[in-house]
This record gives sequence, structure tokens and C-alpha cells, in this order.
Amino acid sequence: MAITTTRFGGNSAVFDGPTGYAGVDAGPEWAEEILRLAEAKNATILAHNYQLPAIQDIAHHVGDSLALSRIAAEAQEETIVFCGVHFMAETAKILSPSKTVLIPDARAGCSLADSIDAAQLREWKAEHPDAVVVSYVNTTAEVKGLTDICCTSSNAVEVVQSIDPDREVLFLPDQFLGAHVRRQTGRTNMHIWAGECHVHAGINGDELTARAKAYPDAELYVHPECGCATSALYLAGEGFVPENKVKILSTGGMLDAARATGATQVLVATEVGMLHQLRRAAPQVDFRAVNDRASCPYMKMITPAALLRCLTEGADEVHVDADVAARARTSVERMIAIGSPGGGE
Ligand code: 13P
Ligand code: SF4
Repeated sequence: MAITTTRFGGNSAVFDGPTGYAGVDAGPEWAEEILRLAEAKNATILAHNYQLPAIQDIAHHVGDSLALSRIAAEAQEETIVFCGVHFMAETAKILSPSKTVLIPDARAGCSLADSIDAAQLREWKAEHPDAVVVSYVNTTAEVKGLTDICCTSSNAVEVVQSIDPDREVLFLPDQFLGAHVRRQTGRTNMHIWAGECHVHAGINGDELTARAKAYPDAELYVHPECGCATSALYLAGEGFVPENKVKILSTGGMLDAARATGATQVLVATEVGMLHQLRRAAPQVDFRAVNDRASCPYMKMITPAALLRCLTEGADEVHVDADVAARARTSVERMIAIGSPGGGE
């Protein structure tokens, strides 16, 4: 195929990729080659809603963290190519240990997953020996191995509701998602780790308030990892925005809401990659980012060049130590069993 320096989507971003693949044109030849390689290697390509549009468009399945975990657990293909960040590919490997799991760039980490490690969790558990540990899926495999139930933003409320109300809960690592779950469940015996995602935490209440005032008829879709989730509820509580127009949703939940909405304009507080699926789901709606600089640098490491290299070279392969995976599997399987299906296509 042609390796050119054509730019993508009309903007000035050249696809940087691992050596020898930089400047790949994500045009029809690239797409054909990706699908040919995937078929030849019996691989399925999964992409998170925050991936670059070209990656979302070529993937066999696009979805939120929960939907992609469920798809990975049931995949028939020998190889899963995970276009997302490292903890997502690790989760797929935990669920399907006999499969080859590839990620186009193993350096695609997550600032939220980095906010707690296994030693810190061990220490926290020692302070609350009878507590049930609920970890967001944005954690390392080692942390999952010390966890009772994992959750994603789609089912965090249901997961916490499934726990005996008399048991203490340690919820980690996202403080904003934790605050959302505490509000929804009314649970007072829940301790929340003070971690955050730098991308979502950066979407602040002042920006949201200014946007909501500038677009008074718009609905607000806010991801619970955002620093502005509390401000969104405050805006509703103070009557600046009607309560039924403020929706705190996972990325999959945003898509369900977009398909059902009668609104003509929606303000979206999450990573900007989400706008692509939203616009596909409801082309008649004007979706606008609350903060158009909210782009996850880790998600964007999965370039068309990196995906081409991944399928050509069978790299980067994701390995999870068998003991760690065995310890983590129960908590991840509990996660995928709770909450409604959906969130992926
Ligand atoms: P969801 O797809 O579960 O909403 O996750 C958002 C996220 O930040 C993934 O890193
Ligand atoms: Fe992690 Fe935040 Fe990026 Fe999601 S958007 S992968 S939580 S750094």
C-alpha cells in the first residue's frame, strides 16, 4: 500500500506512528489493508468511543468500556486488537487468557489508572479490613487482583447497590465518579480514593456554566469522571438549566440518549473523540464540546499508523501474569454480569 504524508480529516495532524509507519494515509487503501490483515490473522478490532474517527470507522466494534469488555469476553476470533488504552487491553486478556491480545501502542496508559497502585490499595484495605473493594475498570491488573467487584461508569451505581448496605465500601480510584455514585445511592459508608483523570477533571464547572448560559436550550451530557458533574447538578438545582436536560452518563449512555433525544443542541462534557459517534448516532443534533481541548493523549496514541504496524507485526502483545489474571478475573466477571447490555455496536 501507499505510504504517503496525506493529512487526516482536513486538519493539520499527520499520523505519527512507530518507526517506519509515520505519515500513513488513512484512506481507502489503508482501510482495505487493515481489514485484509485482520481477516488473515483471524482478528477482531475493538475501538473505544474516544479513539480517532478513522480508528472508530475501521473497527469491527465501537463502544464504551463495559460493552467492549463484554465483546472481548465473547469474541470468537483468535486475536483481539484493542484500540484503546492499556488497562482496557489488559481487561480483555484477563477475560480471554487463551487469546492473543494486541494493542497498537503499549505506551497508551491512563492517568486515572496511575493514581493508585497495588501497594497503596493493600495499605488502604488494611485500614478497612471488612470493606468491599469496588474498583473502576480504569486500574491495573494488579489492582483488579485486590478488588472484589470492578465497575465502569455505565454500571458503577448498580455495582454499589448490589453490595450489602451494612458493609463499608472502598471505591477507587475516581473521586468524581465516586461522588456521583454516593449521590445516586445515598450511601454514607463509602470511602472514596482521591484519584482523577486529568482530561475529565480539566472540564471545569466555570466552562460548563458559561457554555450552558450561552446555549440555554441545549441538553447537557456530562461524563461522571468530569470535574464539572457537581456544577451540572448545581445548575439544574438553581434553575439555570431544567433538571430533565442534565444527564450524567457513561459514553455508551450518551449514545443511547442521543438516539432518543428530541433536542436540537447538546453540550457534551467528556473526551472529544465521543463527538464522532454522537454525530453518527443523531446527525440532526448539533453536538458541541464543553471543552474542545479535552483530548486524551493516550487514546490518541492509537493512530492509523500504529494500527497498521500492530496488524503487520503482531505487536504490541499484552501479557498479564497468570496468577494476577486469575485473581483479577472474578472481579471483572462480576462487573460484566451487572448492568444493562448496550453501549456498543
Ligand atoms: P466509559 O467508556 O466507560 O464511559 O469510559 C470512559 C473513559 O474515560 C475510559 O477511559
Ligand atoms: Fe484515562 Fe482519562 Fe484518558 Fe480515559 S480519558 S483513558 S480516564 S486519561
